[in-house]
Amino acid sequence: MFDTMTITKAAGALIGALLFLMLANWAASAIYQVGSGESEVAEGEEGHAQAYTIPVPESTGGGAAAEEEQIDFAALMAQADVAAGEKDFGKCKACHKLDGSDGVGPHLNGVVNRAVASVGGFAYSDGMVAHGGDWTPEALQEFLANPKGVVQGTKMSFAGLKDPQDRADLIAYLETVQ
Ligand code: HEC
Repeated sequence: MFDTMTITKAAGALIGALLFLMLANWAASAIYQVGSGESEVAEGEEGHAQAYTIPVPESTGGGAAAEEEQIDFAALMAQADVAAGEKDFGKCKACHKLDGSDGVGPHLNGVVNRAVASVGGFAYSDGMVAHGGDWTPEALQEFLANPKGVVQGTKMSFAGLKDPQDRADLIAYLETVQ
């Protein structure tokens, strides 16, 4: 039992040493091919690094990290909380009504997928008229994140909702108010 383990260890060490020699040899020839008399130290380091990198596969670790910078707004909409959105609408109430009448801002019942600046009789800013398009959930969330940044010259004096989930909740709520 003990002997078998010893032999196994010895064999493992031997195979490891052989593997290292093979890799060192391979790395050396790689340096030889690449090197055209530039910094020998840097190339030596590179070869050395490769000798260590190859026997331990790194592919499992590196891939997942670098993505997901943009928000997946559809996913936020899918998990949106309509009741929370109704609360968030408290920030809009001073200027927007939901009964078809206009205040400081145009009424927002039915605003989701409504054409931009399309409430008859409301005096929109030139910037809002020029913005164009429809208030899709995506367009709304962009506008509500930063109204003055997205619609140049808008007269909507509102700093914006910073939390993307708040925007999704609010838009999900507005979808229910026709
Ligand atoms: C201080 C008043 C004020 C507040 C608060 C405010 N808005 Fe507005 N909103 C306006 C005005 C004024 C306009 C018209 C802007 C223009 O013409 O440039 C507007 C325009 C809009 C429009 C475009 C409507 C259309 O018919 O094209 C949307 C959508 C909107 N607001 C959503 C919101 C939401 C959602 C909130 C709350 C998170 C909010 N607003 C908070 C004043 C306000």
